[in-house]
Amino acid sequence: MLIMFSNRITQLFNIKYPIIQAGMVWTSGWRLASAVSNAGGLGLIGAGSMSAEILQQHIQKCNAATDKPFGVNVPLLYSGVEKQMQIIVEEKVPIVFTSAGNPSSWTKYLKQHDIKVVHVVSSSRFAKKAEETGCDAVVAEGFEAGGHNGREETTTMVLIPLVCDAVKIPVIAAGGIATGRQMLAAMVLGAEGVQVGSRFAISEEASCHLNFKNAVINASEGDTLLTLKQLTPVRVIKNDFFRKVQEAESNGASKEELDQLLGKGRAKKGMFEGDINEGELEVGQVSSSIKKIVPAAEIVNEIWQEYTDTLKRISK
Ligand SMILES: Cc1cc2nc3c(=O)[nH]c(=O)nc-3n(C[C@H](O)[C@H](O)[C@H](O)COP(=O)(O)O)c2cc1C
Repeated sequence: MLIMFSNRITQLFNIKYPIIQAGMVWTSGWRLASAVSNAGGLGLIGAGSMSAEILQQHIQKCNAATDKPFGVNVPLLYSGVEKQMQIIVEEKVPIVFTSAGNPSSWTKYLKQHDIKVVHVVSSSRFAKKAEETGCDAVVAEGFEAGGHNGREETTTMVLIPLVCDAVKIPVIAAGGIATGRQMLAAMVLGAEGVQVGSRFAISEEASCHLNFKNAVINASEGDTLLTLKQLTPVRVIKNDFFRKVQEAESNGASKEELDQLLGKGRAKKGMFEGDINEGELEVGQVSSSIKKIVPAAEIVNEIWQEYTDTLKRISK
């Protein structure tokens, strides 16, 4: 039997379980976001790989596919953010997760339109800044996480208590969380919800290429690493592209040379077009524990069931 649950995160978003599906470039469109929201979590459309027009289509399709709340993740490092924000307001999206940038640039604007704002941080210093700018919650993302990451390499285990002690707003833990046991550990550390990326990337509804999903399933411990630290640090699967970057770095490549090697569209090439040798394959350390592609609702239910079962077991 699943217990009824309520805390500041479920109340903030009006959801059943404090399980948030991360916004992920080339991976989390309306299909994944609506499936997670329908299952009682919070689904996020990843706007990072979308033009404003495409984002609008995804929001409208998501609205048609669920009557539950969902949100949009807007990484602030790409161009076109202004138009994306206009669409979000126009389409009355109730929740926005901003990342990879300064929370002060958009929080006030979004709050003026009654939108709940959450910012992704990798340190307690940035968490305090997000709180000061009026964010409703923060995602504290540790070093284990897939995708872009902080330079300090602070692990989830260390980061969550630091951030929880630094701010009063609720903290959502991210990085290395794919199971109910990992979720419980994060909640014990003080988080009130979890943001799960890699695990949902390998769901049936995720829009990334099957080759990418299979590469994740075949990944073993130690097969991902944080790279491109001179540019924007990103955790990826070690492949031919990764090895070229490592070689260039060990030969003393400059920022400009690395930028040239990265080129345009590496993430799309790897994750959306399925070129697993030359593309950028963003995924977290938990990839080594992901063994099959399943529907997103199964992931939500399994995480919650294991969370409650483990809580009962350790309480005895
Ligand atoms: C394929 C992939 C794409 C990602 N793209 C984004 C993104 O567009 N915006 C963002 O804020 N974070 C992005 N991330 C990071 C996730 O939002 C999330 O914080 C992270 O995956 C959590 O760690 P986990 O992978 O261990 O679950 C991405 C992660 C993955 C695996």
